[in-house]
Amino acid sequence: MLNKKSNSGIFSSILLVSAVLFWGCGDQMKKEELTLQSTCPPGMELVNGECKVRSMYQQYESLQNGGLGGLKTGLPPGIKDGYSPEQIDLGRYLFFDPLLSSTNKVSCASCHQPNAGFSDGKRFSQGVDSQTTSRSTPTLWNMAFSKHFFWDARASSMEEQVLGPLYHEHEMANTEKGLLEKLNNNSTYRDLFKIAFPENIENSITPNQVYTSLAAFESSLISLNSRYDQYAHGYHEALDSIEIAGLNVFRSFVARCAECHTPPLFTNRQIAVIGTMDTENRPFDRGAGVTFKDSTMDGGFKVPTLRNIERTAPYMHDGKFATLKEAVTFYTLGRGHAVPDSLDLKLHWHIWEPQLKEKEIDQIVAFLKTLTDETFLPQIPKKLPSGLPLN
Ligand code: HEC
Ligand code: HEC
Repeated sequence: MLNKKSNSGIFSSILLVSAVLFWGCGDQMKKEELTLQSTCPPGMELVNGECKVRSMYQQYESLQNGGLGGLKTGLPPGIKDGYSPEQIDLGRYLFFDPLLSSTNKVSCASCHQPNAGFSDGKRFSQGVDSQTTSRSTPTLWNMAFSKHFFWDARASSMEEQVLGPLYHEHEMANTEKGLLEKLNNNSTYRDLFKIAFPENIENSITPNQVYTSLAAFESSLISLNSRYDQYAHGYHEALDSIEIAGLNVFRSFVARCAECHTPPLFTNRQIAVIGTMDTENRPFDRGAGVTFKDSTMDGGFKVPTLRNIERTAPYMHDGKFATLKEAVTFYTLGRGHAVPDSLDLKLHWHIWEPQLKEKEIDQIVAFLKTLTDETFLPQIPKKLPSGLPLN
């Protein structure tokens, strides 16, 4: 494919795939060249062919269990990175491509929209044929640090998680066979997968390659560079006095937010029963109680990160709060106030009655808005390997 005589030096490391895409009708045809990046996304460094996350927080000592999260607490061990640049870039195409759904109409990005904090602004999302999901779409920022996936923690790796939306009838409603057939029938994808998985001896795309690529892309969505982070690293002017007051209430032993939403990830990566249900309009969601077959975890959900929280309304697993202020106010209305008498939940002992004043709630909200950082937003592909329109 490469022209040795003129290009060998410059282009030997650049992998190009010619893709012929057909647009519109008649004989109108555009020839496009799709490439896979051979460099890591920003915020990552190429080490022995693998993209590794680089953050100031890696300079700080981490307490084994995350501690209570002082400003200079390090990142927890066990980050899932180390995919090749090509795998990450292939994952990016897959993420945006509605070819992955049974109807060719729904992509991962239909619900995890980059311009909406990788969520979609809705209480419940719409999958194929306008079927709605039963929980609100969570953000994908900093997924690489997660131990559990889904609100109820039912998956324990990014690769395992991906099976959920791909094959769920309310999301992309595909089957493994259907998905592989579509990808294998597409010569551009076949070429791109060969580049991303050069060691593969089989001649066709395998399920694991699809899951690995999507996980690889997710691993590159890192957000650790907000105004709060500048403050944490020592630049005190990054926050104003109201935001600093908010940080202090957030960390206080009255509000106790930081004990679950522990910096720097703003989650302790655990599951907690906090009693945020909307049983008036919906059946009780047992959440982690089902996953762990343990009724003491009924109503338990993954402690979500609060990174980019300003961008991902509405809030909680059922999207019951439209604004950040409502979500924060929930905590001060009293332990278990939203739990109907008919339910006996084992609420986490850090959920109490902090009796925050209106001013303190506003300060917390102001602080939460300093956690916005979308510098490493990935590029949205201009064209997809399938030739389908972006949706
Ligand atoms: C129809 C909307 C929809 C589509 C399409 C969709 N998701 Fe999701 N996603 C959700 C919802 C809703 C949840 C939460 C489900 C739950 O917790 O039970 C979720 C959860 C996740 C999570 C777990 C997040 C966490 O905090 O644990 C990841 C990762 C994810 N999706 C990635 C993807 C990828 C990759 C694709 C494409 C293959 C995709 N999603 C397609 C709606 C969608
Ligand atoms: C005992 C652990 C715990 C404590 C303490 C705690 N949270 Fe939470 N937080 C959670 C869990 C679990 C959820 C998800 C609950 C759900 O979806 O039903 C959550 C959800 C949230 C959300 C919505 C996130 C989203 O993506 O929808 C916000 C905002 C929030 N918490 C802020 C706070 C603030 C502010 C405080 C302190 C006043 C606080 N939390 C204290 C565990 C905790």
